[in-house]
Amino acid sequence: MYTQDQLKAMVAEAAKDEVLKHMAPGGILGVGTGSTANLFIDAIAPHKSHFAGVVSSSQASTERLKKHGFNVLDSNSVESLPMYVDGADEIDPQGHMLKGGGGALTREKIVAHLAKTFVCICDGSKQVAVMGQFPLPVEVIPMATAQVTRELEKLGGTVTLRKIKGTDQVFVTDNQAWILDVAGLKITNPVELESNINQIPGVVCNGLFARRKANVLLIGEANGVRRQT
Ligand code: 5RP
Repeated sequence: MYTQDQLKAMVAEAAKDEVLKHMAPGGILGVGTGSTANLFIDAIAPHKSHFAGVVSSSQASTERLKKHGFNVLDSNSVESLPMYVDGADEIDPQGHMLKGGGGALTREKIVAHLAKTFVCICDGSKQVAVMGQFPLPVEVIPMATAQVTRELEKLGGTVTLRKIKGTDQVFVTDNQAWILDVAGLKITNPVELESNINQIPGVVCNGLFARRKANVLLIGEANGVRRQT
């Protein structure tokens, strides 16, 4: 039986093989955020000369990539990316994802949108029948927090302003915005919910990746890594 960390390491390795196989040398790779993405960054580090550069989805990933000596490029300097690799907090049977546990949802969505192929890497515990057990992150402009909270409560969720773990300090995103975590939703129509939440004034972005799903899922399970397209 593998531990969750072992499963994450296995999918990170599988994603390394996936990008080396499908990306021609000299391409620019999109890189996600989180503990699984970190393992992926470490896995590709010995192969950094394969890539002309990388576009990162967070300050945290940028720092890790730079430590490994990657050429980290501004997303404005690229028109498209052949591949983007990132984790997820939940995935439903249709491949809709819920992301943003690490607070990088907006940049992740921007980089994912640039990519031709989105490779999602996660351990099997992230697969759920209906999303919503993991609180849905919604990034907000700070002055709209109370207003957006009221709107999200109308959807039936319990809304909490994200704080830095173990402190009473508000968590501030890389975009200088805040995050509302919405618990208690049963997300049966993620495509519609993603759009509806984005219509609330003051919302920067929400953690549903339903309109732009992953093209390839690499899922770590008891028997090894399962590849699903
Ligand atoms: C960060 C994310 C991550 O992809 C998601 O939280 C999964 O993280 P981990 O690989 O640590 O389980 O969306 O904003």
